[in-house]
Amino acid sequence: MDWFIRDFDDPAYFDIYADKAADAGTEGPALARLLALPPGSRVLDLPCGWGRLRPHLAAQGLWVAGGDLSRLNLRRHAAEQPGPLARLDLRCLPFRPGCADGVFCAFTSWGYFATEAENQRQIAEFARVLRPGGILLLDLAGRNQLRESASRLGDRWRDFPTLGYAERVRWSRDQRRILTERRCQGKTFRHDIWIPTDTEVRTALAQGGFGLEAAFGALDGRAWAPGAERWIYRAVRR
Ligand SMILES: C[S@@+](CC[C@H](N)C(=O)[O-])C[C@H]1O[C@@H](n2cnc3c(N)ncnc32)[C@H](O)[C@@H]1O
Repeated sequence: MDWFIRDFDDPAYFDIYADKAADAGTEGPALARLLALPPGSRVLDLPCGWGRLRPHLAAQGLWVAGGDLSRLNLRRHAAEQPGPLARLDLRCLPFRPGCADGVFCAFTSWGYFATEAENQRQIAEFARVLRPGGILLLDLAGRNQLRESASRLGDRWRDFPTLGYAERVRWSRDQRRILTERRCQGKTFRHDIWIPTDTEVRTALAQGGFGLEAAFGALDGRAWAPGAERWIYRAVRR
């Protein structure tokens, strides 16, 4: 089974990422500002997870539909943030071509697939469902800072007792993917995410039919920098 099917569909996921619920209060309004679409725009939140960012998009007057593969996340989303929702796979979106003004892809939700072709397929699907001139906001972890912090910490297991889990972070042998193992509630989870270079992100966007309008290095909209914690790309569908 693909890691992303198992890891995100287990109740332990909500414990491991419990602090992201509080982070939504700062991330949501800031990312909605960087998306910068006028009220009334149709935005697809892909993947939407449990919908923690949805109210902040809606607060900007945006019409939001969410999509995710995890039934567990979608159930929580429907209970806490009711709205249009679809169970879907990012490689094959169940939406008509050109139906959306914006695609909102937050919290390092690209690079999950094992092959380059599948990861590129996700970008191509985003392009397909956007109208020409539509906007993709792609919010990724900055590769250089991730590598720096991983090498500082080493690959030993670290305990987070208040959060109830232990974690070990390693890079794949070819240095392209980050492997994050977590032990929680007696189970082991293993995220395996391709962390692209800036050049790889820009190439994938261009090949997918996007023009890069801006790249940011933080939620406050400062310019992209190699050592920034977040790499946030605002791309326009050609
Ligand atoms: C890190 S979470 C981010 C969710 C949301 N963007 C947020 O900021 O809270 C990643 C999400 O991607 C979903 N996901 C993973 N693989 C997927 C796939 N192949 N198709 C659709 N959703 C997927 C997971 O179920 C999970 O909810």
